[in-house]
Amino acid sequence: MIAFNKPLFLGNEIDYMKKAATDYQKIAGDGYFTKACTDWLRNKAAVCGAFLTSSGTHALEMAAMLSGIQPGDEVIMPAFTFVSTANAFALRGAKIIFVDIRPDTMNIDETMIEAAITKKTKVIVPVHYGGIACEMDSIMAIAKTNKLQVVEDAAQGVMASYKNQTLGSIGHFGCYSFHETKNFTMGEGGALLIKEDCFMRPAGILRDKGTNRQAFINQEVDFYSWVDLGSSYLPSELNAAYLYAQLEAADLIQEKRLALWDAYYTQLKALEEAGLISLPVVPEQVSHNGHLFYIKVENKKVRQDLIDWLKMNGIMAVFHYIPLHTSSAGKKFGQFVGEDIHTSRESERLLRLPLYYSLTETEVVFVCEKIKPELFTKPFSLKK
Ligand SMILES: Cc1ncc(COP(=O)(O)O)c(C=O)c1O
Repeated sequence: MIAFNKPLFLGNEIDYMKKAATDYQKIAGDGYFTKACTDWLRNKAAVCGAFLTSSGTHALEMAAMLSGIQPGDEVIMPAFTFVSTANAFALRGAKIIFVDIRPDTMNIDETMIEAAITKKTKVIVPVHYGGIACEMDSIMAIAKTNKLQVVEDAAQGVMASYKNQTLGSIGHFGCYSFHETKNFTMGEGGALLIKEDCFMRPAGILRDKGTNRQAFINQEVDFYSWVDLGSSYLPSELNAAYLYAQLEAADLIQEKRLALWDAYYTQLKALEEAGLISLPVVPEQVSHNGHLFYIKVENKKVRQDLIDWLKMNGIMAVFHYIPLHTSSAGKKFGQFVGEDIHTSRESERLLRLPLYYSLTETEVVFVCEKIKPELFTKPFSLKK
């Protein structure tokens, strides 16, 4: 059976976790490995600060609080995204304004944003689907003109870039995920990237249960106490140690994933040229990170038949987000503005194929061989 995902394990992770427990004798957060990961992230993204968090969801929640969201504010995002993108802002009382996506990248359609802006709009949340960047120049220009903040949901975008700028470093805040499905992982975890220095202290307080413990660690104060609202978003050193082993090998991991992505693309290109499927589009001046590979078929029925067919052949393939505006919570906390021309249709066509570090190119060949042209041209038959 070819699994859909296998969490990355290189080998050094366990040594580093052991080191945290024995050499450094620290398994709560904010020890050697938290700092090592933080420095790596800050340098990679060239931002003024990074905070490791207990999930990508928590990074988004911190960004929602730091951007000062109040009940009744509006936040613009695509409906084709993970629930956490919306939840983080809805939890602060914001109304979620969904706009359509572009069919080529599955990212927010930047030309639809301006029409959705009202006096109540506070934040735009571009989501870089599959580590392929949104059209950030346009989004940042719209934000500047309308005095809005931009929170990049770069959960899938670590090590990817837009016009040589690392994803997560372009907006006011950037949010990464290190969940086990991501290119680099710590089991459950994430990071918040911060562009402006003025948010560093509030972010530290927010992550550390509303205390100024960061200032205490930096020897700026003699003791720490409760100074503002906050929660517990700091991950354990054990998770940070696991992640650091992978960040150290980030180039190697990225190279392998890109090779697998390219192998899929090359082998499936003929089907696209024959007009039977669509492949992902990577716009010019965008470098992706091989986070996921999808194909788009004619409709939901063909997709389900293909999922069943691949499963019969020992291959796990899965669809992705069900557009949030069609969900019960999406209806309660949000509203779609403009017309849903692409979101529902494109999401129903999309099928993700296995892609993870330990997948082999031989397995990619096997998967591609099973996606035969006759599956799309004849009445579908689930025979091997
Ligand atoms: C686009 C997007 N945003 C947010 C998240 C949430 O990240 P986490 O699972 O680390 O909380 C995910 C996770 O899959 C995601 O894909």
